[in-house]
Amino acid sequence: MKSVPLYLASIVAAGAPAFAQNYTWTNHPSELPYYGQSPPVYPSPQTNGTSSSRWAAAYAKAREILAQLELEEKVNITGGYTGACVGNTGAVPRLGIEPLCFADAPDGIRGSDFVSAFPSQSHLAATWDKDLFLAYGKAIGREYYDKGINVALGPVAGPLGRIAKGGRNWEGLSSDPYLAGWGMYQVTTGMQSSGVIATAKHFLFNEQELRRRPNQTYDPIGEAISANVDDRTAHELYAFPFYDALKAGAACVMCSYQRANNSYACQNSKLLNGILKTEMHFEGFVVSDWEGQHTGIASANAGLDVVMPLGSTYWGANLTQAVNNSSVAVDRLDDMVTRTLAAYYYLEQEDYPDVGVFSDTEEHPIVNVQRDHKKIIREIGAAGHVLVKNVNNTLPLKAPQFVAIYGYDADIKAEPWENVARYGGGYEVNHLWNTFNGTLIVGGGSGGNIPPYVISPFKAIQDQVIEDGGIVRWNFWSEQPHVSATAQVCLVFINAYASESFDRPSLVDEFSDNLVKNVAKNCSNTVVVIHSAGVRLVDPWIDHENVTAVIFAGTPGQESGHSLVDVLYGATSPSGKLHYTVARQESDYGNLLDHTISDEWFPQSDFDEGLYIDYRAFDAKLNVTPRFEFGFGLSYTTFSYANLHIEDLSSADNTSVSAFPDASIPLVQGGHPQLWDTLYNVTAVISNNGTTGASGAEVAQLYLGIPNAPLRQLRGFDKVGPLAPGESATAVFELRRRDLSIWNVVEQQWELQKGSYKLWVGASSRDLRLEGEIVVS
Ligand code: BGC
Repeated sequence: MKSVPLYLASIVAAGAPAFAQNYTWTNHPSELPYYGQSPPVYPSPQTNGTSSSRWAAAYAKAREILAQLELEEKVNITGGYTGACVGNTGAVPRLGIEPLCFADAPDGIRGSDFVSAFPSQSHLAATWDKDLFLAYGKAIGREYYDKGINVALGPVAGPLGRIAKGGRNWEGLSSDPYLAGWGMYQVTTGMQSSGVIATAKHFLFNEQELRRRPNQTYDPIGEAISANVDDRTAHELYAFPFYDALKAGAACVMCSYQRANNSYACQNSKLLNGILKTEMHFEGFVVSDWEGQHTGIASANAGLDVVMPLGSTYWGANLTQAVNNSSVAVDRLDDMVTRTLAAYYYLEQEDYPDVGVFSDTEEHPIVNVQRDHKKIIREIGAAGHVLVKNVNNTLPLKAPQFVAIYGYDADIKAEPWENVARYGGGYEVNHLWNTFNGTLIVGGGSGGNIPPYVISPFKAIQDQVIEDGGIVRWNFWSEQPHVSATAQVCLVFINAYASESFDRPSLVDEFSDNLVKNVAKNCSNTVVVIHSAGVRLVDPWIDHENVTAVIFAGTPGQESGHSLVDVLYGATSPSGKLHYTVARQESDYGNLLDHTISDEWFPQSDFDEGLYIDYRAFDAKLNVTPRFEFGFGLSYTTFSYANLHIEDLSSADNTSVSAFPDASIPLVQGGHPQLWDTLYNVTAVISNNGTTGASGAEVAQLYLGIPNAPLRQLRGFDKVGPLAPGESATAVFELRRRDLSIWNVVEQQWELQKGSYKLWVGASSRDLRLEGEIVVS
């Protein structure tokens, strides 16, 4: 029997789904007895910048302005207006308060020009490189700053990636909350160090696209799907990476479209007033997802601070009236405004560049913000490539003289320049991406970016072949291309598209699989490169003896071809690792394959797997082995692991450490400060013990068997190297209180578990090389 969940309980009485009866719970009075019901948390917490001196200074300035504002002026700041950006707040001209400009996307600026197209965040996550996470945030933030955009609509940790076919998984970092958390922390830090406000989105449980909004014409008419999530899972999986973003100082959070435990996320007091503003002590402002507001008074009192894109639908004059008749307290309105202004001052945006362009009119001056970002894009692009098969060191290529290239994904497709959006930007719903479009550099929807140019794989490989004095033959569009008998290597390019607004129809497609098989039939050295916005299955051909190497090339951004050539030809050894599980067949994902379909007016999606998503679920199913497990990825060399060392820092005198953080210490943004104290320091020595002569970097991973939790959970990673053959480095893992805790649904606190924690350090979630133990007393 699984023990647990909180909201779970009385569901039985409410005629709840059958699974609920398998759960047990204690009847503590504070336990909220319902699954799929969101408990009320009121009033909305007002904050005052107590987290740090920087927040305090920002609040002092904000309050000074607030004191001078009339009621309508305050209301004006809470709502969006049509303007130059995808969202703009109202201005207060008499006090010199300019509108705040909001823009997408998490991987570069959308809807503009002279901007860079970075790899998607999920590609970034596949690098498992904290330094690159930071550099990515910094560079993107700098482009936002240079364009005069105040608020960047990213980074993304929701969706987390609960379902394999999720349309927006590629916008986020990883289906593991710890890896996603580091991404959120570093990207937020980087972005905000460049001066732009980072927006952690979408809060919370935005795990499917189908019926994410009410009354969508292409969906059954009715309310949006309700993600029904128990309290423990809410904290340990879905909210987890948001803690990291907040810890890094994120000054904005976007609430999500769908309902959460039957209450819309943008008017959900448990999520906004409770988890975000009380437990995580958020000091910034909550912005609605675009048209994600469905009530006026309820959303105000539940903790929403700014409405986008239009304030006037439910707020505007209605909010003024609501304050006048006390349906919304003036304190609540003041808190909305103060939070928003404080975010602006927190980022010191008083002397911000002018908004530089969202319309591609002839008059607009060119504001070119690309700088030398192509270098970091190329580096991250290469570092996020994951090599999963490499028979007899097929790769790196050794200057082959005859290179054959196949597949629609190898090159850009010539199209009118207006259609540059086909690389991802825009809202095209293109289920036929693979046959009608060229190479995939990011996914589609609001998370797509607009590349200044695209280095396709074909271009970059051809340039390399020219340098090597060889020849290239190609066929991009046939499913059964002619295969040259004398080609020394056949590179086959396929992709898997995904976009906001729909979930993926499948994790494979026949055209691409046939293409690979047709080439492999006639070419004994077939190398497959997959650009995919999410999981792509490979079983139809992975064991084919002529398929000698396979690379998951992710969604690498504008420098795609260069990044690939760096890996293919060995300028850098592949060092990316999978940030999700690749199964053998779709059905292996079970209920986590697909979105929940329902034609009910109030559709329900029960997250009844609790904590068991992705590898946590595969680890629990003993009879299902993944094709490639979470954390897996090959290099051109090999590594050995040795000397596991665990240092206990939990108590100076080595006695016992308290189960809960000290209640007398005030909370700060990011939660209780002690959650971030390092209790154990773990190290291991990683050596390049390969015989190929290649250097390479290795992502060493630490998994923890927390008592009363899934078998193994990622709780540390360190990318070491590149290491030359014979060279060693020490991987360091800091285990913080939160990393060792579970969410106690009765006490409503993070609690350390007493007893033995198993600990493993290894090269993937199943390639565990060193084993140890921590005992918490
Ligand atoms: C998306 C958000 C995006 C917003 C503004 C919404 O449809 O869900 O992620 O930031 O549009 O474009």
